[in-house]
Amino acid sequence: MNMSITQELVEKKYRLYHNLINEALASCFSAEAPVTLYAPAKYILDGKGKRIRPFLTLLASEAVCGSSEHALKVALAVEILHNFTLMHDDIMDQAELRHGRPTVHKQWNANVAILSGDMMIAYAYELALQSPSSRQIELVHILNDANITICEGQALDIELEEKKHATIADYLDMIAKKSGRLISAALEAGGVAGNATDEQLNNLVTFGEKIGRAFQIQDDFLDIMADDGKSGKIAGGDVINGKKTYLLLRSIELTSGDDHRLLQSIIENNGISAERVPEIRSIYQRCGVLDETRLLIRRDTENALSAVDKLPHAEGREYLKGFANILVKRDF
Ligand code: IPE
Ligand code: IPE
Ligand code: MG
Ligand code: MG
Ligand code: MG
Repeated sequence: MNMSITQELVEKKYRLYHNLINEALASCFSAEAPVTLYAPAKYILDGKGKRIRPFLTLLASEAVCGSSEHALKVALAVEILHNFTLMHDDIMDQAELRHGRPTVHKQWNANVAILSGDMMIAYAYELALQSPSSRQIELVHILNDANITICEGQALDIELEEKKHATIADYLDMIAKKSGRLISAALEAGGVAGNATDEQLNNLVTFGEKIGRAFQIQDDFLDIMADDGKSGKIAGGDVINGKKTYLLLRSIELTSGDDHRLLQSIIENNGISAERVPEIRSIYQRCGVLDETRLLIRRDTENALSAVDKLPHAEGREYLKGFANILVKRDF
């Protein structure tokens, strides 16, 4: 059966669930003291997060004929775990801006961001254990596996900053770990909350891995190419930090002469000054890497779509596909 779920319907559901998730998050971390422990958690969750992962958790539960209500607690757990990774990632990347506001370690300090992030991990597990499911242990295993894999990915991300001969394969492996796994785990956890079979979980994970890869490549694209202020982050942070992205590695292959030398200097010096970001942006614009990157993102997304074809709830799987198609077009 070919259900026709229009992009409008997907957007409507996204808005609805986004509000639901935000309302539920607003009642988390209600303890008042110590203020430097709980206020940063409230602050980061109060930011303009897109809530992509918890939305996927709710959709995954529905796509295996479960309910979104039963998946809400673990969806919140996933979002809180994600925001803990952002808080620590911003320390590691020395990022000053997130969601258009000072990062937690800038607003307070690094010790506060480390400790508040640590507390958020435990809080996330507690929520997962409150899920109305007989499969809570599986939920905890999924969160643990995601958490460990993110740490591996983050370690590789930092190791790659220093590496002079990083390959595109190194980059793809690193992003699968630092970003792909939490997206696939969000879907897997939603599947478990909806009481999915092993085969259905595999399908959800495959879908998540593919959209997760597209998502991080897009994040790297927007890091330098997003319209002014739209990303809510400092533009060009990745080249400033010498991050080995697909954009950088592939454009080194595509250029020669002065352009090539300038890009190569980012590798040699492990970064570049903020004033030179516009020059790098111009090179990306003229060397053809932007079209190649868009193609890669589109291909990954297309490959993802077939992974969910066998899920039992026709409408639910169309929502997953529809949302993947919205993500591919995102500009923030
Ligand atoms: C940022 O994730 C970290 C990456 C894996 C790229 P999001 O872009 O989903 O961040 P929020 O939750 O919307 O702030
Ligand atoms: C983020 O990668 C991955 C994690 C937070 C684990 P980035 O460092 O690219 O994320 P942003 O761009 O700061 O959100
Ligand atoms: Mg970062
Ligand atoms: Mg990072
Ligand atoms: Mg980024």
